[in-house]
Amino acid sequence: MIRKIGIVGFGQMGSGIAQVSAAAGYPVLGMDMSDAVFKRGLGYITKSLDKAIEKGKADAALKEKVLGNIKQATALKEFADCDIVIEAVIENIDIKKQIFKELDTVCKPETILASNTSSLSIGDMASVTNRRDRFVGLHFFNPVPVMKLCEVVRTIDTSDAVFKAAFSFAESVGKSCITAKDSPGYVVNVLLVPYLLDAIRQFERGLATREDIDTGMMLGCGHPMGPLTLTDFIGLDTILYIADIMFEEFKDSHYSAPPLLRRMVNAGYLGKKAGRGFYEYDKK
Ligand code: 3HC
Repeated sequence: MIRKIGIVGFGQMGSGIAQVSAAAGYPVLGMDMSDAVFKRGLGYITKSLDKAIEKGKADAALKEKVLGNIKQATALKEFADCDIVIEAVIENIDIKKQIFKELDTVCKPETILASNTSSLSIGDMASVTNRRDRFVGLHFFNPVPVMKLCEVVRTIDTSDAVFKAAFSFAESVGKSCITAKDSPGYVVNVLLVPYLLDAIRQFERGLATREDIDTGMMLGCGHPMGPLTLTDFIGLDTILYIADIMFEEFKDSHYSAPPLLRRMVNAGYLGKKAGRGFYEYDKK
């Protein structure tokens, strides 16, 4: 039975997962290596709730409940009594393995460990623990409070009971879930990322302007954002990272990053968060 939630990594994704969990009534313990990042995450939550209150879609009582349900941890040992700990730190396998190794030693034996990774192998992370059967992927989408999906990823070792518990937990925070195998990109990114890479390739070869590529896909296919805006929104570095992992795994040109993407990342054009990507943004 999942009652208490731990979240390690309190950036955009971790804080979003904390928000939906706290809104569903779970006590949430959150942590980030940096106190400033944790505070910024709380700021995202407050802003998102304030916006919802402004629109009449939430009230002050919900805001109080969400913020009241979230507590900050300063060391991994404080996660000992959590029923599930979800990791949402940067996409670096060594850092993730280090965190899971420590969580495995400090958490009670029943604790389920989960990663929100978009592309790294869940099995690889589970291999550094002594609870491979109690390890899953819970891949949420950005912005977490808005996007309805969670991919629940099982490895060859994940037990049926743990998979079901993780699946039910994601449903209980308001998500519709799909089951995915532990394969790079799971279901959504393995389809989405080649589409974004193709849009960048077409922009690079001068097929159309950035606006026309985006408008084409928004109005022609009913997408809420065009592919270049969506790449800016997700982060060019994130898309490059996922593409490189999938290319490394599948050795298929479908997943190879266009030179323009790599050049933009190297030049710091990381998208909305950097104030510039395919478009320019007000950093505030
Ligand atoms: N928190 C809470 N609510 C938010 C929010 C946030 N961070 N951001 C937006 N919203 C809400 C708004 O309040 C608004 O609510 P309403 O409809 O009830 O009034 C609604 O979402 C729409 O927002 P806006 O009116 O501000 O703006 P848009 O209509 O442009 O919608 C968007 C913004 C929801 C981001 C929409 O453009 C969208 O769905 N874009 C596609 C996002 C997407 O594809 N995400 C998945 C990325 S892939 C991924 O995450 C996987 C990873 O591994 C790479």
